[in-house]
Formats: sequence, C-alpha cells, structure tokens
Amino acid sequence: MVGVVEYETHGAIALIALNNPPVNAMAVALRQGTADAFSKAEADQNIKAIVLTGRGRCFCGGADIREFGKPRKEPFLTDIINQIEACGKPVVAAIHGAAAGGGCELPLGCHYRVGDASAKFALPEIKLGLQPGAGGTQRLPRLIGIAPALNIILSGEYVNADEGKALGFFDEIIEGDLVQGALDYANKLIAEGKGPRPTRDMNIDDTGAEKIFADTRAKIARRSRGLIAPERCIEAVESALKLSLDEGLALERKNFDELVVSDQSKAQRHLFFAERQAHKIPGVAADTPVREINKAAVIGCGTMGRGIAMSLANGGVPVTVLEVNKEALDKGLAMTRDTYAGSVSRGSLAQSDMDARLKLISGTTDYADIADAGIVIEAVFEDMELKKQIFAKLDATCKPGAILATNTSSLDVNEIAAATKRPGDVIGTHFFSPANVMKLMENVRAEKTAPDVIATVMKLSKDIGKVGVMVGVCDGFVGNRMLYAYRCQAEFLLEEGALPHQVDKVITDFGFPMGPFAMGDLAGLDVGYLVRQHRRKTKPSNDRYSFIGDRIVEMGRHGQKNRKGWYLYDEGSRKPVPDREIEKLIVGISGELGIVRRDITDEEILQRCMYPMINVGAEILSEGIAIRPGDIDVIWIYGYGFPVGKGGPMFYADQAGLKAVYEVMSALHAEHGDMLQPAPLLKELASSGKSFAGLQ
Ligand code: NAI
Repeated sequence: MVGVVEYETHGAIALIALNNPPVNAMAVALRQGTADAFSKAEADQNIKAIVLTGRGRCFCGGADIREFGKPRKEPFLTDIINQIEACGKPVVAAIHGAAAGGGCELPLGCHYRVGDASAKFALPEIKLGLQPGAGGTQRLPRLIGIAPALNIILSGEYVNADEGKALGFFDEIIEGDLVQGALDYANKLIAEGKGPRPTRDMNIDDTGAEKIFADTRAKIARRSRGLIAPERCIEAVESALKLSLDEGLALERKNFDELVVSDQSKAQRHLFFAERQAHKIPGVAADTPVREINKAAVIGCGTMGRGIAMSLANGGVPVTVLEVNKEALDKGLAMTRDTYAGSVSRGSLAQSDMDARLKLISGTTDYADIADAGIVIEAVFEDMELKKQIFAKLDATCKPGAILATNTSSLDVNEIAAATKRPGDVIGTHFFSPANVMKLMENVRAEKTAPDVIATVMKLSKDIGKVGVMVGVCDGFVGNRMLYAYRCQAEFLLEEGALPHQVDKVITDFGFPMGPFAMGDLAGLDVGYLVRQHRRKTKPSNDRYSFIGDRIVEMGRHGQKNRKGWYLYDEGSRKPVPDREIEKLIVGISGELGIVRRDITDEEILQRCMYPMINVGAEILSEGIAIRPGDIDVIWIYGYGFPVGKGGPMFYADQAGLKAVYEVMSALHAEHGDMLQPAPLLKELASSGKSFAGLQ
C-alpha cells in the first residue's frame, strides 16, 4: 500500500511508514492512515511485532502549525498514541532525522525506540508559546526522569542520538540501514519473548522532585518573565508525578487549548513566520547563488569587533582580526579569551569548545593577512573619514569577490561604499552589543549592493546562529531610528513629571528586560552623549530636546561603569538604586523649562514610549527601509529585548488596534507638535480599519 502511510509485512513484523513529504507532518490523512495501519497489524494473527518509521528526510516534524487554533479534526493524535501504547504487540519506533513535537510524542507512545546517528528529538512547542499537547509532558518524564524532561520541554531544543541514548529515550542506536536494524531489533524482541512496554506504566523517580521544580521555577522567572507557557509546562510535568496518565493528559489538553488561543502564542507564532519570511527579499531570487565564505576578517578588536569575531568563530568560521597596532591587538585578543573563559567558569561553555573556538581566531596588523578573506567586517570607531580610509584600503587589498561589510550603527553605507571601486560588494552588517550574545544582525542593503552579496550575508547570519533582517539605508536604520523616538519620549516624561524608576518599571512590567534609563546606564551614558553632541553640530534641529541626559554626563556620571548614572550602583552590583540627587536635578530642570510637573499614569508612560516608536515604524515602512512589518518586529525582539509574548511593536500595535494608536498619536501631535505627527500610513490604515499585518 502506498499512500501517506505505507504498510508492509516483513515476516512476523508489520512495517508502518509515514510518507507525507517533506516532513511527514501529522495531517488528518496521516493520522487516519496510522490508526488504520495499527488496527490492521493488531488484527493480523501472523504479525508479532510492529515497526513505525518515516520515509524521506526525517521521522516526523509534528503538526502543521498553520492548523493550530483551528477546529481539531478526528482522529486526534492523542488517541492514536494511546492506541499504539495499548497495542498487544511490541511496537518499535525507528527514528532518523527529526522527531519533533507530535512527531516526538508519537514514539513516546511506542514501546521501544531505536534511531540512527542522524536521529534527534525535541518538543519545540514552547517556542510558539505552547506546551506539548499529545502526551509529551506526561510520557517524557516517565521515560527519562523529571529534570531532563523539564529541560527538554522548557528549552524546545533538539537532543541528538547519543544524548538521547544516554537519557534512555533511545534503546539502541543503529549503525547501517535503520529500517533493517529496527526489523532485526523487533525480531530479537520476539525471540526473547519481550512484549509491549507501555510508557504509561513506568514509575517516575521523584527523588528531589520538590527542589527540581522550585529551581526550575526560579530559573524561568528570571528568563521568561511574563510568559505563561513555561509555567503551564512545569505544571503539566508536575501533574505527571501526581496524577494518573489519563488525568495528566486531560490537564495537558486543557493547558494546550488555553495557550493556543492566547495572545502570547499568537505573537510567538507570528514571530516564527516573520523570522522565516525575513529571508524573502525583493530583487533577490530564492535561488541566487551565494559566495563561499571559508574565511572572514574583522577590522577593529574593540567591544563590537571582539563580539563579531567570537560570533563567527562560534559558527565555525575562521576569522582574522586586524587592529591598528600590536598593543591594541593583544589587548583585544586577551579580552576575547577572558570572555570565553568567563563562559567556561560559569559552566555554559566546555573548555574543549573554548579551545576550538580560540583556534579559529587569529590576529594581525597587516592587511596582506586578510587579503584572502571571503568577508571583511569593519568595526572601528564610528567615524566616516576613518571608515572611508579603511574601505579604500580594503578595496586595494582584498581578493575580487570579497564582501566588504561595515558594522556602522548610523553612518551612510552608500557613502562608505563609494570609497571603493566595488560598491556592489559593500553591505552593512549591524550587530548588537554584546555581539557574541545578541542574535540580531540588522543587515543593510546599500543602493548598489549586489543580490548575491545580500543572499550571502543573509545565509551567513543563519549559519552563525543569528537572525538576519535586511533593511535599507537611513539614519539609524530601523532599530535605532525607532529607539530614538522611544528614548526621547522617556526623557520628556521626566521633564513633565515622571521619574526614571517609574518609567523603567512600566517598561519592565510590559516585559522588556530593562527600562530605558537602566539600559542607558548599562550601555554607558558617555557614548550616547558624544553621538548627540556630534549630531547637534552636524544636524541642527528645532525639535524638542531634553537636556537631562547631557547634564548627567556632564556631572561625570557615566552609568554602571562608574557606579553612577541615572541610578546609583553599589560596589559590585548591577542593581539600579534611585538617587535623590537625580530626582532633584530632574525637578529643577522642569522648573527651568517652566513645566508644572504633574502625575503621569503608567498607561500614559507606556503609550508615550511605544506609540511614537510604532509611528516611526510606519514611516520606515512607507519609505521601504523595512520590507515588511514582521521584519521590524523581528529586529525589536532580537536586538532590543521587546517582549516576545507581545510579538514586536508592529504586531503589538495591531493588537491594540491602529485606530486607537492613531487617536493617541493625534492627541500627542496636538499637544507636542510636529515631532509627533501621525505617519500617513498609520492614518491611512487606521481610517480604513486595516492593520499592519495586512501589508505583509
Ligand atoms: P570600540 O571603540 O570599542 O572599538 C573600536 C576598535 O577599533 C578599537 O579597538 C580601535 O583600536 C580599533 N581601530 C580604530 N582605528 C582602527 C584602524 N584604523 N584599524 C584597525 N582598527 C582600528 O568601538 P565599538 O563600540 O566596538 O564600535 C565599533 C563600531 O561598531 C562603530 O561603528 C559603532 O558605531 C558600531 N556599533 C557599536 C555598538 C555598541 O554598542 N558599541 C553597537 C552596534 C554597532
């Protein structure tokens, strides 16, 4: 029988094979076919054991997430898994490639699991704001124990064949042909008289359970603030300990049904698709050939250069760092080593991995040593003249076809490209600090950037584990241009009556890891000060401007680095402590400006911080600087810590309703003037009852 589920007999064994390319998604026909095949094998007297496998590139990728939230159709996956588990004949799952989500819960209902070296399993539902919904939270802890099960469910990450064997998920890793190995394994079970081994009958080792749950909850509270799915997952695993399997399945289903209709899960599903869609770039065909990057170079081994070099090495790309002299180079490389050593001592990196990564990083002060690099990423001081000199030198030394990239956070990439005779090879790769940690690469396409350069840089982003988004050239690109609007409002709010800790609390309650003032202290206030001074000289403007931030720097307060900024910091502590001196300064400045301070509500703070920034997002879309609203959302999630459960600023605006956003913007415009003029696109969408999502 050939269809979405194939059925073959091999002696006393029935081989049931999922065959629904490309990833054997558990669509309704596949579920029905599986249920029928198992009924057939169960009824056949000559069949003594069953092997379940997947054709094509993997065992099973799980449900089609586009079906989430739609009415479920029978037969349900949970019932099929229960049917398999209750089968009177031993059932062996034979896994190659991915077994994810429902595709992992299916083998959890089988009695034995074998895999080949490519086998890997995951319960990635958490990444979509969900919880496993077909027994994963109940069977996985029974099979491998509470702590590893919690880890897997809460991380959503894959576990490979060897780890899976060590954990007890796989009974055997097969060398050679998987299906033949699984048939042999099943024959051995028959010969040894081994029958079904239902996971539901396994006892959970509850040693230390209370502490495991408490520790996990504490970790989650730090990492996933405000997200509901992680707590639901923990609750479901906890119930595996306390309830019967069927009661646990009922609780799991109830949690899943609640989560799937939640705004948070909708937001996370939006981001899942947005991240993938970001790779579709107008003018760059999907089959555009990419340039080979076997070696990279980074110019400048400062804060960003070091982080970029580490990102490349972490992704397995050999990288040569070029500095202005040996002293700066040695210092930069030593700091790179220290950063890795810090990860090793915290237990987040193995010593062997640190050694391997460091081996990929070399240093030089000679351009000849980087002439053969496939990509050069410049990360020297933010100074146009310096950058132009460097690009002219790169043009003169680098091999033909080398990609010449700049990490500038604000300068005109077209102007930098014009310093070379190969502007088609020039592009922006804007990393975020700390670059070895932050996942965003805001890649900047200049006027003449060649399509294959764009395709190569987007692929490189992915290859080194980053999230790439392609934007166009403008002051601040997408992220910082919007950030500017947000920061301005945060400071105006201080002049009008708020205090830094009040603004920061509203923003952290919303879900950002930090508010704008604590963030400024962390990044260092002196850096922004210099940028502002430069900007005021080069681009004078009559727009409202708050001097509070400048005064603070002029008082010698540079943020966490000297334990004084918007807040005070105790020795060795990163905890911001509100400072009376700053409060007095702010109140004094309100007086100087003739502003009568007033009570400002949390709602106003949130709207003033978010809506003007969304308004700039609308301008950016009309100008074509961002390709689509989802790209802006991805930038804000991965580059600025916008709360994942809110889906990014443009998704959030849609949820709030563009009519409401427009009305607030119009009121702000009337009160504060042209700086807050509603963007024409916002007005147009709001008045026609449309949303940003409709533009995708
Ligand atoms: P940094 O001051 O920490 O490092 C700059 C490095 O470049 C120094 O080590 C310096 O010795 C080296 N350098 C200067 N002239 C050089 C030359 N002619 N040849 C070789 N090396 C030279 O600066 P940072 O913060 O790393 O910034 C670098 C670039 O990244 C700037 O364009 C900045 O706007 C951008 N950027 C900075 C971010 C941040 O948060 N610091 C975030 C994103 C982008």
